[in-house]
Parts: sequence; C-alpha cells; structure tokens
Amino acid sequence: MGGILSPSVMCADLLNLYSEIEKLDSLGVEFLHIDFMDNKFVPNITFDTNMVKSFKRPMKNIRRDIHIMAFEPQNYFDKMEIGQGDFVSVHYEACENPHEVLAEIRNRGASPSIAISPDTPVETVCDFLDEVDGVLLMTVYPGFAGQPMAPNSMERLSKLKQIIVDSGKDIILEVDGHVSWDHCQEMRARGADMFVAGSSSVYGKDYPIDEAVKKFYQLVK
Ligand code: DX5
Ligand code: ZN
Repeated sequence: MGGILSPSVMCADLLNLYSEIEKLDSLGVEFLHIDFMDNKFVPNITFDTNMVKSFKRPMKNIRRDIHIMAFEPQNYFDKMEIGQGDFVSVHYEACENPHEVLAEIRNRGASPSIAISPDTPVETVCDFLDEVDGVLLMTVYPGFAGQPMAPNSMERLSKLKQIIVDSGKDIILEVDGHVSWDHCQEMRARGADMFVAGSSSVYGKDYPIDEAVKKFYQLVK
C-alpha cells in the first residue's frame, strides 16, 4: 500500500474551504487533516467544534483526520460529531486517562490514534498499541504551521516504526509537521504510512494543488 496523504486544512485557502475540500475529494485524497487547538495545550486556536463538524458537508469519500491539540479532548467529541470513518488523534500529554479517551473514540465507531509531542519518549506508545489504529508522531512542536522540524525527528520515526513492527500490530504511523518535499521521501523510507502535508509541501504555493497532490503521491508511493 502506498503512502496516505492527509493535507492540513489549516494551511489551505481559509476563505474557500468548501471548494478546497471538494477538490481534494475529487483528486482521491484519503484524508483531510483538521487541527483543533484549545489555546491551552498549545498557544493557538484554529477551528471551533462547529467548523470541525461542518467539514463533513462537502465530503464524499475523503475522511476527517482530526488532530485534537486540547486538554481532555473527549469534551469536544459530541460537538464535533465524532463517528464512523473519522480518524481521531489525541495527545498522550493532554489526557488524564488516555485509555478511556481512546476507548470513547472506538465506541463511537471512529479510529483512535495516540499522538506524541517531540519531547515525549516514543516508548510511551507501547502502553496503547492494543487500543489504537494509529500513532501520530509530531515532527514539529504542536500548534503552528510553518515550523522547522523538531530535533531527532527522523531517528524517532525509525525507532517508533520498529516498536510498531515488533508489536506485530496493523497500526498506521502518521507524521505531522514540516513534512516537506525534501523530507517526505526519507520519512517514507523510515516507515511513515500517513503524511500530514501543510505549508512545507502541498500548501506551499510551489504548485497548483492537483499537481502538488500528484507529486506527493509519487514521492511517497
Ligand atoms: C502543527 C499542525 C500541522 C501543520 C503542518 O501543529 O499539526 O498540521 O499544519 O504544516 P507544516 O507543513 O507547515 O508544518
Ligand atoms: Zn496536525
């Protein structure tokens, strides 16, 4: 299976989101990466829960890849209408009881994923491998687009992949942050399965979105 693309909607044209999502859907892109921030876990705000819910409206085949950078993320699930088809990443560092939060995502028919920030040891995910469909490795410090890659991200990626392979479980390894044209091939070679593509690649203004999507898939196939 080739690399999975999840363009980061916070980097898209914010005044034309409906048509941007329709475009990605028509191009066969699997996921739309939606960053939700509470201005507490990270010092930034992107979309409110109503917008996260509304992103479903233009969607035909593309699915929501919701990255919740907020404390106690379960408090937002109802308002976001988390359910069948959603891929939902919650931060280990932001949950009082990550096991309960992941179970709640699963109970809603969605796919749970545990996210770890750059300063969290990758071994942390070992406690959750029986409960998740994915692991989200932050390769920047969460909260803002356009940042440089966090130190040791590539080494962490390889180490995390080895942990997943050794577990024998079918778990998607997603990378998020500075997944640039230069980095994405190495990330793929080191075992990344799903790529959050933002300002450093598909929304970097180098190419129109259809060409950018095609180029990205060629680089991560
Ligand atoms: C950062 C966000 C990412 C970001 C990726 O907290 O999670 O989705 O938008 O975009 P770039 O490519 O600019 O790092
Ligand atoms: Zn993200």
